[in-house]
Amino acid sequence: MTTTSTESGHVLDTGLAGEGARRIEWAAREMPVLRQLRRRFAEEMPLNGLRIAACLHVTSETANLMLTLRDGGASVALCASNPLSTQDDVAAALAAEYGIPTFAIKGEDRDTYYSHIQAALDSRPNITMDDGADLVAVLHTTRTEQLTEVIGGTEETTTGVIRLNSLAEDGRLKYPIMAVNDADTKHFFDNRYGTGQSTLDGITRATNMLWAGKKVVICGYGWCGRGVALRARGMGAHTIVTEVNPIRALEAAMDGHQVMTIAEASEIGDMFITVTGGLAAIGRDSLAAMKDGAIVANSGHFNVEIDIEALEEMADGKQTVRPFVEEYLMGDGRRLYLLAEGRLINLAAAEGHPSAVMDMSFANQALSLEYLAQTAHTLTPQVHAVPRDIDEEVGRLKLQSMGIRIDSLTAEQEKYLASWDVGT
Ligand code: ADE
Repeated sequence: MTTTSTESGHVLDTGLAGEGARRIEWAAREMPVLRQLRRRFAEEMPLNGLRIAACLHVTSETANLMLTLRDGGASVALCASNPLSTQDDVAAALAAEYGIPTFAIKGEDRDTYYSHIQAALDSRPNITMDDGADLVAVLHTTRTEQLTEVIGGTEETTTGVIRLNSLAEDGRLKYPIMAVNDADTKHFFDNRYGTGQSTLDGITRATNMLWAGKKVVICGYGWCGRGVALRARGMGAHTIVTEVNPIRALEAAMDGHQVMTIAEASEIGDMFITVTGGLAAIGRDSLAAMKDGAIVANSGHFNVEIDIEALEEMADGKQTVRPFVEEYLMGDGRRLYLLAEGRLINLAAAEGHPSAVMDMSFANQALSLEYLAQTAHTLTPQVHAVPRDIDEEVGRLKLQSMGIRIDSLTAEQEKYLASWDVGT
């Protein structure tokens, strides 16, 4: 692999910058809320003088967020939050055309991945932005001398928020972090409709499989699982959900999906998609029980949801049959297909969530950074909710951009809702 490494970053090939710039502009067309914030940020410079290190999926949508922060007065360094999710043309454009130091190469190995995180932290950030909490983890373990320079951070995803809550509960989190994931205008839309569409997109691009009539097993019925199940059913699949949480399992059943244990599902599924956020949702026993030809993919944050080690041990051999499709020849003659090495299929084999939904997630990010710039000194070193007015502002701006108007309560209706004494 020939790569370009300079002080402005480490990317695959700066020759791809033109193509990347065109794709960044294309994405911007579908990101009206972020565009509006970018214009305001350029006038008001709310991030003036801040140094931001961002560890995010390096996509055309992320590029638009980086440009918004730069126009708001920040200096930004960007590295990948997953070894397989980088769009190399976008990384090239950011580094070579937009002057944003970017450290990201699709397919980078583990050492390169961590060297890129180190490079982003070499920019001595005051603010960190994470998608999965890797910057926070490195800062709190091997670069603790930098912690006093950091005033705050943001976290984009469910898995990252879970890691940060655990760090905070241990009393070890050293600066305040805004849980962007938990804003309603983030997870109701990005996790559900974004993951729903992009997961099917990734699997379709990798396999060209027909969904109609297939038995598709969705492991996990959080916001991502709900979205994947909804969209798989929309394509005509017979959807089966596995869950460990009784309330979510009940919801899946009443949403019309078949609910059963993973042991039962393993014997009948044609396609398995993990979106649990947890460990080994598909383990050795499931892999042993699957039908010949079963396809296994993950759309959760880390590549730990499928027990790949067990798969490797159980198989006599493997071969790549298409990009992102690995065929495992099992000892008993069955063939199982693992997609994208068990990494996020939607970002590895497709382009991640569509721009229109990232518009809301990244508007929350930009507004949370503005909020941190103003208030970080007053916040405790905990995981903080995005303020409700930011969340509602994002919803309002998105509706406006879609040309949708809604009603508001009359004074009389407001009064009724605030009272206890009016009954039937
Ligand atoms: N996470 C999921 N989809 C994404 C995208 N398109 N850009 C950045 N992060 C993402």
